[in-house]
Amino acid sequence: MFAKFKKNQAGETEAQAVVDSKRVPAHIAIIMDGNGRWANQRHLPRIAGHKEGMQTVKKITIAASQLGVKVLSLYAFSTENWKRPTDEVNYLMQLPVRFFQTFVPDLIKHNVRVTVMGDTTKLPAATQKAVKGAIDETSECNGMVLNFALNYGGRDEIVTAVQQVAQLVKDDQLKVEQIDESVIAEHLMTNQLGEFEDPELIIRTSGEQRVSNFMLWQLAYSEFVFMPEHWPDFTKESLENAIIEYQGRHRRFGGLEN
Ligand code: FPP
Repeated sequence: MFAKFKKNQAGETEAQAVVDSKRVPAHIAIIMDGNGRWANQRHLPRIAGHKEGMQTVKKITIAASQLGVKVLSLYAFSTENWKRPTDEVNYLMQLPVRFFQTFVPDLIKHNVRVTVMGDTTKLPAATQKAVKGAIDETSECNGMVLNFALNYGGRDEIVTAVQQVAQLVKDDQLKVEQIDESVIAEHLMTNQLGEFEDPELIIRTSGEQRVSNFMLWQLAYSEFVFMPEHWPDFTKESLENAIIEYQGRHRRFGGLEN
């Protein structure tokens, strides 16, 4: 175990697990849940939770980049989130605008490149503009990739990929027998992430233990860590704890351990 030593409240020396910097998961994906409950607990409107959640996105982006993560995927708006009250949807659509307006210089300073997966054509024009601006402005950065899932759904992603592959077959550019996992993966929205398309670690906050239509293909061999804290309370230490938990797991990919 990698450990640092700390005194506990009784003054005794205790070993504390720390992140092994050589085995940090290359791709971490986060289902950021609990903004609404965080706000409810404080008798605040739900949007106050999303606002605070945006601040957490900033902190965790920097923390992940400093830990050596290659891709951080964040589930910001699902294809199902349109069912929420209009005011909340409008607020959630404004968040990327506010986020990128204030945060792009920091992203560039930390060499973070922005990518997006999801059907962005359905987003309001101002949101599309902000997203495109952030992608363009950070396109030269070659450090961590911050991959936002916006109007993203795992099933929708698979349907779109199947339609594209079917079209290739129809146009005689591909034979049915040539369809394999790599052909499907090439048509998924994570294809732009290259070798890091599949997350090694998926974190969900606020104690819920569900996948909620997130990265359904890519999670085949992901490790899941469910954290009790609501997203606005998630800290760099929470992220490190999730990574430490991941590093204690034995990944066998269906085989046997050596
Ligand atoms: C889930 O909490 C959270 C969301 C649906 C929105 C996530 C958005 C953010 C964290 C801010 C995104 C920031 C940017 C920059 C795009 P919930 O509302 O479902 O919480 P609840 O389950 O407690 O109601």
